[in-house]
Amino acid sequence: MKPKKIVLAYSGGLDTSVMIQWLKEQYNAEIIAFAADLGQGEDLEPLRQKAIATGASKIYIEDLKEEFVQEYIFPALKADAVYEKKYLLATALSRPLIAKKLVEIANLESADAVAHGCTGKGNDQVRFEVGISTLAPELQILAPARGWEFKSREEEMEYAQKHNIPVSVKKGSLYSIDKNLWGISVECGVIENPAIEPPDDSYQIVSHINNTPDIPEYVEIEFEAGVPVAMNSERMNPVELIMKLNTLGGRHGVGRVDMVENRVIGIKSREVYEAPAAHILHEAHWALQALILDRECSHFKETVALKYAELIYYGLWFTPLKNAFDAFVNTTQSFVTGTVKLKLYKGSVNIAGRMSPFSMYSHKLATYDAEDAFDHTAAEGFVKIWGLPYRQGNGGRVF
Ligand code: ARG
Repeated sequence: MKPKKIVLAYSGGLDTSVMIQWLKEQYNAEIIAFAADLGQGEDLEPLRQKAIATGASKIYIEDLKEEFVQEYIFPALKADAVYEKKYLLATALSRPLIAKKLVEIANLESADAVAHGCTGKGNDQVRFEVGISTLAPELQILAPARGWEFKSREEEMEYAQKHNIPVSVKKGSLYSIDKNLWGISVECGVIENPAIEPPDDSYQIVSHINNTPDIPEYVEIEFEAGVPVAMNSERMNPVELIMKLNTLGGRHGVGRVDMVENRVIGIKSREVYEAPAAHILHEAHWALQALILDRECSHFKETVALKYAELIYYGLWFTPLKNAFDAFVNTTQSFVTGTVKLKLYKGSVNIAGRMSPFSMYSHKLATYDAEDAFDHTAAEGFVKIWGLPYRQGNGGRVF
């Protein structure tokens, strides 16, 4: 059935601007645009006029920063979710939230379809569509960029011109960049060659090491139940805390990642990420947690972290597994309260101290000094029994 009313995830860029007109032509439908403020640091107000001038009947602009932090970023931080050892998942985490809002607006507007601007090669189409179809199986999902006639940006520009669509494209803009509070993803252009170093103009918010201060800087982060609540003894709203850490870390060259990753659809792609705040907070969280969790809980949590990162990356946010993992993770986080001091210098983050009222660290057990309270003689029996299985009937086996 041809949709009559479509809600489009709209950024104001070339693709989604052209898409408004294209969808109208294709389906003779009413188009409602939706733009989200996820802390990308852009004023979205101009989009109001632009979307209407482009042919939308209405636009929703929503500030989702707080919800993004509380409901998406913090669960991932508490879980220590990192994809393929390096990617802190900024783009991936934003997708289920956008999917949820698209569904909400579609319901509010009694729309029969939603649309997005993703191509057929990326992860984001998977994340949007799995999220949308889980939350609203009856809603039609349109992905024009997977099948429309335009073969290049030039062809889209031509179409825009023909239809008087206002577009502001920086000529020769080389990279495809996705930006939010938790980090920046840079793809395309020369970066597509994994054999070469990312050029200087690929740097967005992180300073090149050559330009970072020659003096290290300390920062103290206070956590409560696994999430940051204060920076340098000043309590602040988490959105503000993340923004401040992005500036601070960026200045010291912290949080840049260059990797080749495995996409959901099977392609390997070369990505450059910048996520100073995310990097600092992950390091701090890990250091604090190490003081508090018992060994078995901690080791099992590493397995969960790996699977949690996969489910974020794979677009499986609204799933029973995610809820079950959250139950486990939240149980482990109730005592992850305390302060971590970090030293930022020339791209590195080093832990300079950690303290917690719930620390399980026992100095009198750990020390090699005179205060040592550990019963060394008890170790003999322990070791004997620990190794017992391997002393039985080794017969023909050779070691
Ligand atoms: N590869 C990353 C991911 O799948 C980043 C995608 C970023 N998208 C972009 N248009 N630059 O999460």
